[in-house]
Amino acid sequence: MSVDRSVTFTGIQFENPFLLSSAPPTESESNITRAFEAGWGGVVTKTIGLHPVVNVYGAKAKFMRTTAEDANVSMKKRPGAALHSSWNWELISDKTLEWWAPRIRRIKDAFPNKVLIASIMAGSGNDKELRHWQELAETAQGEGADGLELNFSCPHMDRRDMGSNIGKDQGLCSVVTEAVKEVAKVPVWCKLTPATAEIVVEAAACFRGGADAIVSSNTFPSIPLIDPETLEFEINVDGFVSSGGLGGPAILPLSLAKMAQLTKAFPDKSFSGIGGVSDFNQAASYFLLGCGTVQVCTAAMLDQAVGPNVIKRLLSGLDRFLEQHVKDGWKRIEDFRGIRRDRIVLQSDIRRPDSADYHSGYEGVEGYASPQPDEVPVRA
Ligand SMILES: Cc1cc2nc3c(=O)[nH]c(=O)nc-3n(C[C@H](O)[C@H](O)[C@H](O)COP(=O)(O)O)c2cc1C
Repeated sequence: MSVDRSVTFTGIQFENPFLLSSAPPTESESNITRAFEAGWGGVVTKTIGLHPVVNVYGAKAKFMRTTAEDANVSMKKRPGAALHSSWNWELISDKTLEWWAPRIRRIKDAFPNKVLIASIMAGSGNDKELRHWQELAETAQGEGADGLELNFSCPHMDRRDMGSNIGKDQGLCSVVTEAVKEVAKVPVWCKLTPATAEIVVEAAACFRGGADAIVSSNTFPSIPLIDPETLEFEINVDGFVSSGGLGGPAILPLSLAKMAQLTKAFPDKSFSGIGGVSDFNQAASYFLLGCGTVQVCTAAMLDQAVGPNVIKRLLSGLDRFLEQHVKDGWKRIEDFRGIRRDRIVLQSDIRRPDSADYHSGYEGVEGYASPQPDEVPVRA
């Protein structure tokens, strides 16, 4: 029996649910062309903006590895070390909208059946900045982009009105999404930062603004380690470093936790999962929690820059998984999407050796029913 890899996500038809996320693998026409030829169902372009972008001197991203012997996490290359994470302080695309526009058109003309999502970013402090979002959106969709991803998540923006600073402010999430939706003729996805206490709050704000999907996670705020011999940060410029973003295997469980919060809060909405995916085993967790598509960055960067082997593994893994579950009547992702979402419950709902004695961590009160978790008093 042949399996069906296709998905419809926010109304867009994908030949398969795997995308390269907005990052170096999608920073150029040649990369995106190679990615589509390799089999990716879609790409999200490197984020496009209108403000000046000047990256730091030297390396913009590096990879941390660890070994079974020392369990140290380091950017130093060591034989036999396994990937732990990526670390980056790269800004958005340093290419202009004028540079991107004809390329979006050419890519879509060459690959009409592949999905190209334009990632965009502007400020949010005033009406002029909101018009910048609209200009970016109108240009990208005018050139044929199938959808827009609003970057509310870059963790290392100096500007207070950009990137994850938007994603940390529910008011701005709503206002910017609404401004883009005013002009958008294609679906609008909002990529949120994981660096907030309650990501459900910002997601709700995006949905109020009209978002068609939430994308999570971008990288997690982090700094590189200090080399114990030189006492210098493993990545630095003139000895200095600033907060950057962690991606790759290390963030997989963290990102899944954010996604679980989101899909549980909004079971009928659309979600695209990112973080630590390199083959179908990890992608499966995102689908089982309710995601309709999955995106990849770090693993692709380390595989000939656009992940030809990663996409092969994702596709063969999906095919194998569906074939194994023919007996369950599963023919496509939709048949098992979200079936593990409801297995995440409160600690107090987890079985204990003797549940009768457990009152959500509080003393039981004689003669009364146990307090419900949302009724218990906050202790000083
Ligand atoms: C070097 C680098 C640059 C990135 N640039 C962007 C960007 O321009 N826009 C964006 O939304 N995310 C950007 N990201 C975040 C990735 O798209 C992705 O959300 C993150 O790396 C987590 O996925 P991963 O674990 O597969 O790497 C970047 C990540 C890296 C490593």
